[in-house]
Amino acid sequence: MEIKVSNDVKNQKTEVLVIGQFEGEKTNNELADKYAVEKDHFEGKFGQTYLLQTLGNAPADKILIIGLGQKDEFDANKMTEIAAKAVKKLQQIHAKQACFDLDVMFDYGKSATIGAYIADYAFDKYKTEKATRVDEITFGNVSQEQVDEGKIFGEAMKMTRDLANEPAAYATPTKLAEIAKSIEGIKTEVYDRDEIERMEMGAYLAVSKGSAQPPKFIHMKYTGKNPKKKVAIIGKGLCFDSGGMDLKPASSMLTMRDDMSGAACILGVMSALAKLEPEIEVHGLIAACENMPGQNAYKPGDILKAKNGKTIEVDNTDAEGRLTLADALCYACELGVDEVIDIATLTGACMVALGTVASGIMGNDEDMIARLIHTAKESGEKFWELPLYPEYMSSLKSDIADMKNTGSRNGGASAAGVFLQEFVSGVKWAHIDIAGTAFLEKPQKEFISGSTGVGVRTLLNYLK
Ligand code: BES
Ligand code: MN
Ligand code: ZN
Repeated sequence: MEIKVSNDVKNQKTEVLVIGQFEGEKTNNELADKYAVEKDHFEGKFGQTYLLQTLGNAPADKILIIGLGQKDEFDANKMTEIAAKAVKKLQQIHAKQACFDLDVMFDYGKSATIGAYIADYAFDKYKTEKATRVDEITFGNVSQEQVDEGKIFGEAMKMTRDLANEPAAYATPTKLAEIAKSIEGIKTEVYDRDEIERMEMGAYLAVSKGSAQPPKFIHMKYTGKNPKKKVAIIGKGLCFDSGGMDLKPASSMLTMRDDMSGAACILGVMSALAKLEPEIEVHGLIAACENMPGQNAYKPGDILKAKNGKTIEVDNTDAEGRLTLADALCYACELGVDEVIDIATLTGACMVALGTVASGIMGNDEDMIARLIHTAKESGEKFWELPLYPEYMSSLKSDIADMKNTGSRNGGASAAGVFLQEFVSGVKWAHIDIAGTAFLEKPQKEFISGSTGVGVRTLLNYLK
């Protein structure tokens, strides 16, 4: 779908003219006021829609009115939802083209563009019959710059969603490395198995051993003009998580191609940074591999040595994400950055706690966590803080190594968090658990089932 900008949408000949109505107020269109509001008592409740045939009485064939809800409650995130709602409705009526004439859009051009992108998304690459799409929409009352920024965000989310939706047979560690290398404006270094071994990333390496797919440690770097800050962002990159020797049951394994959603998020973010050009230095890191059983696979009871020298007894091979992240965190802490953020589909426990609605966030710096939670809220995402009390480490005590990789099932998201903290030193750090939010089994609000691209909007706004 192409998004255009025009300052004369009112008089443009169009298939559908999309307008808005706040609850209890009039629209900006006489015809709509006369038929929908006065005669049919359309109320303008949030998300309600009304389709009006103009029968030759207007330049538009049809007018689509979207309820905007209470005026004093309207904000950027509502704009995203409304734009998504409108595009979904246009798809439903098989409209190929539309003009948007919403006065509120003036303040929210970026949010509206993102909403349109979210709704336009379908993963239909492998389907013979493609999804119904709108070819072109034109926004009135909007600044070109806001729409352009929205497009960069929208494209980044699409890239992330596509990658996480792709089967594991396509999105292999090697493929992720290729994609990282192809991002314009980003310098990428890829380390192979030998180099991973040389860097003494014993935890990450162990996880990768059962798979025929070789691991790839990916280091992307964006350097803006006069960088004011240096940040490393790490994405969990398990291209497939079968559980390993502690094999998952079939039903839990079904969606485990999404276990690289963190990595996909980082790739989306890095691709957008080069276009947004913020004054910052960003390192994007992915320890990509698969977790498979096999004759070379790591086993329960193995003792692994991470990059910082700490030893880990493997209690469960299905707690592999934290092992790959442990070495990536050590690597990040050696880069001399101010902040490290990791984003990972890490624990089923986080999904039990927060469902598919909110991502869990933990870390060692209250101010940084507060800023991330705030940015998420402004970006249309929900982050909820979970604690990192030292007591959670007690279940990870090992008799034969410095720690085990799992312990009690209870408080699993926090236990994973304190485990990761063992590999963080000398930097501000936040960990975002997206196990519940990265991939939907059924549609939720403006999202269809499958990957949501969670984290992209928040990280981009945060880095900006
Ligand atoms: N990738 C999973 C976590 C996950 C679960 C993501 C559900 C998305 C949806 C992770 O590697 C895992 O298997 N975690 C285990 C940890 C356990 C063995 C301590 C879990 O949560 O069950
Ligand atoms: Mn696992
Ligand atoms: Zn996993």
